[in-house]
Amino acid sequence: MSENTIIAPSILSADFAKIGDEIKRMEIAGADWIHCDVMDGIFVPNITFGPKMIKDIRKLTNLPLDVHLMIVDPIRYVEQFAKSGADYISIHIEATEKVEETLKKIKDLGCKCGAVISPQTPVSALEKYVPMCDLALIMSVHPGFGGQKFIESSLHKVSELNRIIKIVNPNCILEIDGGITENNIEDVKRNGARAIVAGSAIFGSKDPASTIGKMRS
Ligand code: DX5
Ligand code: ZN
Repeated sequence: MSENTIIAPSILSADFAKIGDEIKRMEIAGADWIHCDVMDGIFVPNITFGPKMIKDIRKLTNLPLDVHLMIVDPIRYVEQFAKSGADYISIHIEATEKVEETLKKIKDLGCKCGAVISPQTPVSALEKYVPMCDLALIMSVHPGFGGQKFIESSLHKVSELNRIIKIVNPNCILEIDGGITENNIEDVKRNGARAIVAGSAIFGSKDPASTIGKMRS
């Protein structure tokens, strides 16, 4: 597997009324994945969109769709997201008591599975799921909104998780999400993050291609 950095623009910062243009804009700018934030207004204090949006985006692009579920009891919906064309489906370990069961179901549905921790959750709580994950995601802001400031203590968590991944499952992709900019991406990459989610930094850029290029190199 190539060790290149994966840049995943988060459409939370896109104009939802022009989603087709926004996805194309990211594709042309060189995005590797499209990160889709699903929020239910209960696990997080914001509401975004559901499987229908993923299904419609699926028709617009061949880029992998990285679906980040911020919803309680995600097992209820993983089948709908898989059928809608998600490639990666990630769930918060704080959102369910059925973490293993849900991850397994995502795999059985033919998708790649990911486990996510919010800033208040230690890496030790995530560790036991790493062997069965294709993706492990550290939130570097409190989930719910784009445009927040990067929480510096996330860097230690990235390096701790990177050590664990190297030992127990080197194929698992370490992803980071929240507050990433051209200015701090070097630090997160140095600590071991491979997939980088960025919303406001990319969608808010005057030149997304240049921003993505700088973030990747
Ligand atoms: C926050 C979302 C993020 C968000 C990142 O809950 O999971 O994906 O869109 O946005 P920025 O990059 O602006 O922090
Ligand atoms: Zn996200």
